[in-house]
Amino acid sequence: MQLLLKNIKQLVTVNARGMLTRTGAEMGEIGIINNATVLVENGVIRWVGPAPDFQERLKKDTDVLDCNEYVALPGFVDAHTHLVFAGSRENEFAMRAEGKTYQQITEQGGGILSTVQATRAASKKDLKKLATRRLDDMMRHGTTSVEIKSGYGLNEETEMRMLEVISELDREHPMTIVPTFLGAHAVPPEYRQNPESYVDLICDRMLPYVAKTKLAVFCDIFCETGYFSVEQTRKIIGKAKSLGLDGKVHADELANIGASSAAAELKAVSADHLDHIDASGIARLKNSGTIAVLLPGVSFFLNHPHAQARALIDAGIPVAIASDFNPGSCMSFSMPLMMTIACTQMKMTPEEAITASTLNAAAALKLSHITGSIEVGKQADMILCEIADYKFLSYHFGVNLVSKVIKKGIILEFS
Ligand code: NIG
Ligand code: FE
Repeated sequence: MQLLLKNIKQLVTVNARGMLTRTGAEMGEIGIINNATVLVENGVIRWVGPAPDFQERLKKDTDVLDCNEYVALPGFVDAHTHLVFAGSRENEFAMRAEGKTYQQITEQGGGILSTVQATRAASKKDLKKLATRRLDDMMRHGTTSVEIKSGYGLNEETEMRMLEVISELDREHPMTIVPTFLGAHAVPPEYRQNPESYVDLICDRMLPYVAKTKLAVFCDIFCETGYFSVEQTRKIIGKAKSLGLDGKVHADELANIGASSAAAELKAVSADHLDHIDASGIARLKNSGTIAVLLPGVSFFLNHPHAQARALIDAGIPVAIASDFNPGSCMSFSMPLMMTIACTQMKMTPEEAITASTLNAAAALKLSHITGSIEVGKQADMILCEIADYKFLSYHFGVNLVSKVIKKGIILEFS
């Protein structure tokens, strides 16, 4: 099976040339080729370059797509979502419009625990149906790989149900899905008097089961005032790592309790949010290998401070951006919208926003050796957009500019 994309008006390759991330000034280099050709064979990219240099002999049954109207980019990688959930929280959104804060709403019984209630009550079939629709829509908006966390069960039965839904979706949906166990998303009501025994339940029962059944690749934790402490983060991520899972940490979202430093110390693959990171957190992340996953949609939606993207990039830390799609703090999974917010509020350039949503985001899922850029040997995960220039993706916001999505070399049809 061959697919030839010819006369591509503008190709954004985000070429990594063997690197797993792009950092510092190199985040702004996105490898543009005007009038380009890409040849795909069996889902893998075989040739990329300027159209006049293409000399290969094509097979008889090669599909050919003329792309002279299109700007082509790598499919987006959304490296942080809570896509499986039941219920919705539009009332909290309305309360915030009237001046209540996310924390006040949580204290009044809303927040994560309200979605936990709805998710515990939902069947596997219902959760899967809801998630499938969201995945379809996400792909239409150009996302070709996504991380999905558990964390709205907070008991063994529902956490595992969520992970099973995620694993079935990965098998059945064209999207590449990376599962993350987030049993430590909040302390469930049953353990409010004794949070430490919930940490024990995670370490002694849930994590060993998740590791044995391979239901998750990563283990994440909400390290935050009112949720889990740095000490509990060390315990849970330490245990997860001893069982072969990689670590992620929700860090410095609402306050700074040293979570990003803990993520660096634990060699977490990513530290996410970082809206309140300080100079010492930045110093600790630097050279730790931990990727900073920024979630501009959350700061926008909750009207919270934005992460200091410039300081993180200037420090040479690999920066990714993700949606954090969830019913409470960001009810959007549009990666181009996240790019717009990153540019206007965090002062990232459109080029940096692209690198952060593709190659570096793939690295935050340990997938950047197979996706996140358009290069020979990588999976053909691409989007085609009928726009004048790649900058339109962050510039022309609030509309879907993605015309075609190619996943592993297949042009997807949307109903
Ligand atoms: O990433 N920070 C923790 N979890 C989510 C919020 C989830 C919710 O409000 O349901 C977040 O912002
Ligand atoms: Fe999150």
